Amino acid sequence: MNVVVGITGGIAAYKAVNVVRGLVLAGHDVHVVATDAALRFVGRPTLEAISRNPVYSELYEGVAEVRHVAIGQAAELIVVAPATANTIAKLASGLADDLLGNTILASNAPLIIAPAMHTEMWQNPATVANVATLRSRGVRFVGPAIGQLTGSDSGPGRMAEPDEIVAAALTAVGRQDLVGRRILITAGGTREPLDPVRFIGNRSSGKQGVAIARAAAARGGEVTLIVANLDDGVLSGLSSTVSVQQVSTTRELQEAALLAAGTAELIVMAAAVADYRPETVAAGKIKKETQGDTLELRLVRNPDILHELTDSRHDGQVIVGFAAETEPDRDALLVLGAAKAARKGVDYLVVNRVGWNETFGSDDNTVIVLDATGRNVAEANGTKASIADRILDVVL
Ligand code: CTP
Repeated sequence: MNVVVGITGGIAAYKAVNVVRGLVLAGHDVHVVATDAALRFVGRPTLEAISRNPVYSELYEGVAEVRHVAIGQAAELIVVAPATANTIAKLASGLADDLLGNTILASNAPLIIAPAMHTEMWQNPATVANVATLRSRGVRFVGPAIGQLTGSDSGPGRMAEPDEIVAAALTAVGRQDLVGRRILITAGGTREPLDPVRFIGNRSSGKQGVAIARAAAARGGEVTLIVANLDDGVLSGLSSTVSVQQVSTTRELQEAALLAAGTAELIVMAAAVADYRPETVAAGKIKKETQGDTLELRLVRNPDILHELTDSRHDGQVIVGFAAETEPDRDALLVLGAAKAARKGVDYLVVNRVGWNETFGSDDNTVIVLDATGRNVAEANGTKASIADRILDVVL
């Protein structure tokens, strides 16, 4: 989705960076329109790096492409964060004396405003009237929150937290087709300790599973996300409505997943689960002096969590498994997938190819979704965010 983030001149502008980041991570094409005052609080290079697009602020630049209306016409959603009292007053009056004003006036997209100002300004009758005017025109407000303001004062006026703004913005435009649905998602890769400092693990970053959690939450789902050893930053900007539990080993994941599965209507097992664990875990660090030139590890089978979940499935519960395979031949991959779907007893199996340089840690993915009978019901290629939505569409 094409999203415009308008940033105006308040100290909370530095927090707007995380609003931009959250929207980008959710898979959106984000264009920042900043006022001159905003650029005194946060640098253009920061906003360009995070949004991955040029930042526009000048009304008289890009005139040949009629930029002052083009940005607003292309926008599917506009978020103004932070919005100062001055900007809110201008928007209520329909003023267009800067690029942001023109962009908003030229747009039919839903408008979300996250105000940030001192309490006296927020409670001033002028601001109260302006907010009421904008609300009556369908503009949605997120916050302000009550708390510490820039000076020594505190009260209503603090900008809402970035993840709250992102969630509200996506809710305003998104399909709300998972409202009230209880969804359990696992992500990341389990690790099995050898001794207090070493483990056997896998290369799953957790990005695809977390993308499914983001998408399900944006569509109104009540999401429980069990994560094992995610790469740094994968959870950043995740809506606070998602309940996150951290585990590390397969048996910890098993315990958490079986417990959470009781009330879940949809389970998505995106985690890469260690099939084996060391039979014994050394109490102290394994030392070369005692091991000599070779070290033999004896591994024992871990429980198959997905199998246990499908065995204890309750009525109406839909269970989705993943299969990361290195098989290069497409037909052979589909045969492997169909056999795995049947063996695991899942309703859907998301098959993706992995390799030394494929998929792990990447923002993109290519998947084939099979149903319980092994029939190919969907194929998708793109960002992990877009694939997350596609998987949820299939399940719905
Ligand atoms: N899975 C699980 N418990 C395990 C192993 C896997 O719940 N001990 C789940 C994964 O989360 C995934 C699906 O089963 O959703 C398939 O995982 P995969 O590793 O591809 O399958 P395996 O059963 O381990 O088969 P393989 O021998 O191909 O590794």
